[in-house]
Parts: sequence; structure tokens; C-alpha cells
Amino acid sequence: MQTRCALVGLPGSGKTTVGRHLARRLELPFIDLDQRLEDVLGSSIRQYFEECGEESFRDREQALLAELAAQPGPVVLSTGGGAVLRAANRAVLRSSFAQVFYLRATPEDLWRRLRHDRTRPLLQVHDPLGRLRELHQARDPLYREAAHFVIETGRPSVHTLVNMVSMQL
Ligand code: S3P
Repeated sequence: MQTRCALVGLPGSGKTTVGRHLARRLELPFIDLDQRLEDVLGSSIRQYFEECGEESFRDREQALLAELAAQPGPVVLSTGGGAVLRAANRAVLRSSFAQVFYLRATPEDLWRRLRHDRTRPLLQVHDPLGRLRELHQARDPLYREAAHFVIETGRPSVHTLVNMVSMQL
């Protein structure tokens, strides 16, 4: 069986951590879209946002996602939290990956995990928890549209989350 799966969700939902563990468990290649983007852009995402703006970042993100989705073969892909913003990306995710998982978490849980993180450009604001609440409200329907499964992350361990995802594959 050829396993292809992608993880979507807000920043701090565990996409990269769960994706990496899942790939190791299933002995599959792991791709972190943000990491690949930083390699291609030659700068950190935060720096690229500051220098070129969010729209330009979204263009580059869309192009890379389309390129990766077109490559055949097994893969675990963790996406950036905003990859679902564009309808084209949601369609690519649903059609090109066998299974797409939305790692869902409350804004409060996300904030608990991200409060010391300074790498997320969208959270460099006066009220980051308020920002996470807005993002959650705006994007929850988009993640649901892109995904085949919703995994409520709450407080289970990474190990439990990996089990929950791999049971569906
Ligand atoms: C973004 C999330 C980030 C990164 C960029 C934009 C977003 O990825 O792609 O900063 O719009 O939510 P993570 O979800 O891995 O933090």
C-alpha cells in the first residue's frame, strides 16, 4: 500500500511533531512544507514576511505545495498553518493526498504551546491569544474543507496522536 498523508491545522497544533513521528513509525519520507519553503526562499519565513509581504509568501507556498503534490510516492507532509487559505491549495490537498488530517486544538491550548515562540510572524502582535482566536474562527471551516479526518488534539501525548492518525491509514 502506498501511504500519502498530509497534516493541516493552526500553528502549534503539532503538525510537524506528529508528522515527523508518524513518518518515523511508518518508515515514510517526511516533508515539512515550511522547512522546504525556507530552503527555497533562502531566508526564514518571518524574515520573508517582513521583506516581501504575506501575499508573496502565499504565492511561493502555493507553488511549492502544487509541486510536491504532483510528485508520486509515499509521503507524510506537514503544511504551514495558512496553507488552507487558498481554495486551490485546499483542492490540491484533498485530491492529491490519500488522507488529510486536521489536527484541531483550542486557541487556549495553542497559546499554551506557543507562548515562548517568536518565530510565528502572525503572532507578533499585541494580543496573540486574541489573534489565535480569530484565526481559529476564520480557518476552522477551511481546515475541515481540506481534510478527510478531524483529530481533536486536546492534551494527549504525541504517541497517542500518532496512533490516532495511523489507525486511519
Ligand atoms: C502560518 C503558519 C506558519 C507559516 C507562516 C504562516 C499561518 O506555519 O507557514 O508563518 O498563516 O498560520 P506553522 O503552522 O507551522 O506555524
